[in-house]
Amino acid sequence: MGISKDEQKVLAATTAVDTLIAEGKIFSGMKIGLGTGSTAMPAVKRLSERIADGTLKDVKAVVTSFQTQLACEEYGIPVYTLNDKAIEGHLDLAIDGADEIDQKNNLIKGGGAAHLREKIVEYNAGFLAIVADGSKDVDTLGTKFPLPVEIIADARVPVIKALENLGATCTVREGVKKAGPVITDNGNMIVDCVWKSPVDPAEMEDKIDAITGVVECGFFTKNKPVAFIAKEDGSVVRR
Ligand code: 5RP
Repeated sequence: MGISKDEQKVLAATTAVDTLIAEGKIFSGMKIGLGTGSTAMPAVKRLSERIADGTLKDVKAVVTSFQTQLACEEYGIPVYTLNDKAIEGHLDLAIDGADEIDQKNNLIKGGGAAHLREKIVEYNAGFLAIVADGSKDVDTLGTKFPLPVEIIADARVPVIKALENLGATCTVREGVKKAGPVITDNGNMIVDCVWKSPVDPAEMEDKIDAITGVVECGFFTKNKPVAFIAKEDGSVVRR
């Protein structure tokens, strides 16, 4: 028996931050995008430790959710928006988790319903690092982990019809400890989509995002990341 999934998440996150510091891709004075979820959080924590030990100074963060905002507040990492003069709409690097990553490093994200702000941040970053446990490493996308699509609530019925025309089976995501649908940090609903056969993520990203009433889908194919994937045996594969 190897290390647990939670241990893999911490290992991937810590290895990525330390490796990227050693390579000069995470550096003092940089502008960094910080992702959301149970693998991104240890990366935020590791970043804060490297700030606290004096390795990094004057790091400016842009966050992707209330979860990450709260983590930065707890760890004392200064938070900006993409629109701030200090950021000028562009980040040096972003680091985040993923729900699935295929062999070409296309991603499904949005299991935590944060993919809209994640995509805004990560498509405006010069370098994207993804941290993941081994269960996220897959051959194809679309049939197993449902693709999250953030939608305008008033457009629910026509958007679902359009997604079904693209072959998807759709479910409006339900809240946990909250009656009714999940409402995102941006006030929208999430529709989770699965297909009977694997789909081309790049083609589907464009087709889904072209539907009127879709805010953003969880396929990430346009800023190819470097992935740090931790395995059960305690190794970390970089791809
Ligand atoms: C949130 C995301 C997360 O990165 C994704 O859901 C992975 O989360 P975790 O690391 O908790 O498995 O896209 O919207």
